[in-house]
Amino acid sequence: MTARLFITGASSGIGRAVALAYAADGASLFLLGRDQTRLDASADACRAAGAADVATAVADVRDRDAMARLVESANETRPIDILVANAGVATGLSPGQVLETPEAVRAMMAINVNGVFNTVEPAITAMCARGAGHIAIVGSMAGVRSLPYSPAYCAAKASVHMWADCLRGRLAAHGVRVSLIVPGFVETPMAARTKSWQPGAMSDQQAARIIKRGLERRRPVIAFPQYMYYAMRFFTLLPSGLVDGVMRRFHVEVPETSEREAS
Ligand SMILES: NC(=O)c1ccc[n+]([C@@H]2O[C@H](COP(=O)([O-])OP(=O)(O)OC[C@H]3O[C@@H](n4cnc5c(N)ncnc54)[C@H](OP(=O)(O)O)[C@@H]3O)[C@@H](O)[C@H]2O)c1
Repeated sequence: MTARLFITGASSGIGRAVALAYAADGASLFLLGRDQTRLDASADACRAAGAADVATAVADVRDRDAMARLVESANETRPIDILVANAGVATGLSPGQVLETPEAVRAMMAINVNGVFNTVEPAITAMCARGAGHIAIVGSMAGVRSLPYSPAYCAAKASVHMWADCLRGRLAAHGVRVSLIVPGFVETPMAARTKSWQPGAMSDQQAARIIKRGLERRRPVIAFPQYMYYAMRFFTLLPSGLVDGVMRRFHVEVPETSEREAS
């Protein structure tokens, strides 16, 4: 039987591309996003690509109750084989700016950290009871070594990296796999907003192929390009001041997210 996937952030970029890659295998898809028009377009593209069935839901990953209801109802229709917690936003600093807007930082943390918890937590008990299932959490190279251009985003991604690593160790004994996905630059609307040199940039289709292959091979960490992952890990071993000094030499503008913490 083909796989059943639940994917957040499926209305754009990496999430959409992963959905399409699995659609070509005849997968059953449950796709989430916030923009109804773009989500519908993704769903239509997945049907055209060969998906067995496609359901969609408009939801904000910050809404814990709504996410629990959606994951549980998706699971009742047919157990989720692969749950991809992908939805996220980027935020950062432009040259000369020293402080990120606190309301933007908190909104981003709510999406990129709590949104991942809200997506994954409701699936854990059911997957453990079945003794099957695969949880994929999308992090970033920014979660491996700190970047002075996007402090809060780095903190959010480092947080989900650690959570994914902990879950993997905990859930393996229950038959549930956990993969941490660590993308470098992927050509999506998010990356297009960042003004910087983007070494190793790849298309969203290429990223989706690597992610799908990594999930099929049950890789605990799916990082691409790999040289960048090892370089970032190597940087963590070098004196911090040295690496910070090199990073400061690059001109990078990461625009602030328009998301704001609800008052
Ligand atoms: N592109 C890169 O270079 C890169 C590198 C490293 C890591 N990543 C990570 O990859 C993931 C996907 O990024 P992308 O590049 O594909 O970005 P993207 O094209 O901007 O897509 C982001 C997706 O997340 C959804 N989303 C954002 N906030 C949401 C919320 N509050 N509730 C529900 N859905 C929400 C968006 O849905 P709507 O538009 O419908 O709101 C959209 O489908 C993110 O976690 C990002 O941090 C990307």
